[in-house]
Amino acid sequence: MSSPRTLNVGLIGGGGGAFFAHPHQKAIHFDGTRRVVAAALRSNPQAALEDAAIWPYPIKGYASYDAMIDAQQHLPQSERLDYVVVVTPNHAHFAPALKAIEAGIPVFCEKPLTLNLKEAEQLAAAVEKSKVPFAVAHTYLGHWSTRLARHIVQSGLIGDVRWVDSSYIQGWLAGKTEDAGVQQAEWRTDPKKTGASNCGGDIGTHALMQLRYVTGLEISKLSARLEALVAGRSLDDHFTTYCELSNGAKALVRASQVCIGHKNDLSIEVNGSLGTLVWRQEESEAVKIMLPGQPDRVYWRGEVASNDGFLGDLPEDLMSQPTLPSGHVEGFHDALARLHRDFEVDVRAFNSGEAVNCDGSKYANVEDGRVGLAFIEAAVASSANDGAWTQLG
Ligand SMILES: NC(=O)c1ccc[n+]([C@@H]2O[C@H](COP(=O)([O-])OP(=O)(O)OC[C@H]3O[C@@H](n4cnc5c(N)ncnc54)[C@H](O)[C@@H]3O)[C@@H](O)[C@H]2O)c1
Repeated sequence: MSSPRTLNVGLIGGGGGAFFAHPHQKAIHFDGTRRVVAAALRSNPQAALEDAAIWPYPIKGYASYDAMIDAQQHLPQSERLDYVVVVTPNHAHFAPALKAIEAGIPVFCEKPLTLNLKEAEQLAAAVEKSKVPFAVAHTYLGHWSTRLARHIVQSGLIGDVRWVDSSYIQGWLAGKTEDAGVQQAEWRTDPKKTGASNCGGDIGTHALMQLRYVTGLEISKLSARLEALVAGRSLDDHFTTYCELSNGAKALVRASQVCIGHKNDLSIEVNGSLGTLVWRQEESEAVKIMLPGQPDRVYWRGEVASNDGFLGDLPEDLMSQPTLPSGHVEGFHDALARLHRDFEVDVRAFNSGEAVNCDGSKYANVEDGRVGLAFIEAAVASSANDGAWTQLG
């Protein structure tokens, strides 16, 4: 038996001072079983080629994602892209993702999935038709501790879920960062490039996904306030939704970009009929459990054991996921790498002609991306209607 062929990955976006293409390229290379071989790094064709020529290691540069995807059919099988990563601003997710799907190429796409719900529905329909593996990059699902939290809540260990507070709080847009030449702030505050909600779309969707992944519950309806707390902004920088969940429980899903001192403060607290679970991404090595009349329990990654008086049997699948020994800290890159690692399994199955079940248990799928856009559109509609209760489409 020989080692499997390394998967070929193509980047769409990543040139000219880009941020998130770089965590992706690290995560792609994390296991040595995937590598970036090609890229369409910018919307300007000349700049795309120039940036590819100075990429830190040799890649095939293309002038556009159209050229990169069209070129695949002329390459020998072993040189073709096994998947593409779409890591462009939100308005430039839909077209390359759809083109790749229609060319039969699996897609690992950034969040929010698209600019609006209509586009998200079109992508979901295209994935359903073509059956190509499709991931949405909700990075925080890749923390091992998020998966432990999901196991604890969904196996009923804290009882029936009654109340959830899921929030993502930042402070980087407390001033007019977009007027200071910061490209990440410029496009995020521009409705044509970011969509109908800035704060909600950018980080509220992470808070939503964390709630849905950990609890397995859906948002049935919501009452929302989208506010611009910094004068002169047309889109929200402060986003609050009060929600009813599919089991009748209530939840806050909220986000802000104007809370000075907060960095990437994503956290979730789930209150059940038997106990409370707390998880914070800035301390993502641990899950805290609070039970009545007992000392609080803190479960460290790598330091959990079945049947310890609270945890029941722990699934083999959870326990066998590669991790460092506890205390050697995992982090954001590890979480994103875990998503790419799980996606790789599905891409290899797809390449072998096997049926692939992107069921959302290991990474967010296209339906999760669609729900994110349905959530945003319901929140925008509710807020415009003075916070009226609004069903998700
Ligand atoms: N999953 C996460 O945790 C996470 C974190 C940060 C950003 N993001 C998402 O990643 C995406 C990119 O965000 P960012 O902060 O890296 O933005 P950025 O502005 O730093 O980078 C965007 C890149 O896309 C390129 N680009 C734009 N249009 C293009 C086109 N038509 N073809 C090819 N390249 C094109 C730009 O040149 C740039 O290289 C956004 O959707 C954002 O929401 C996700």
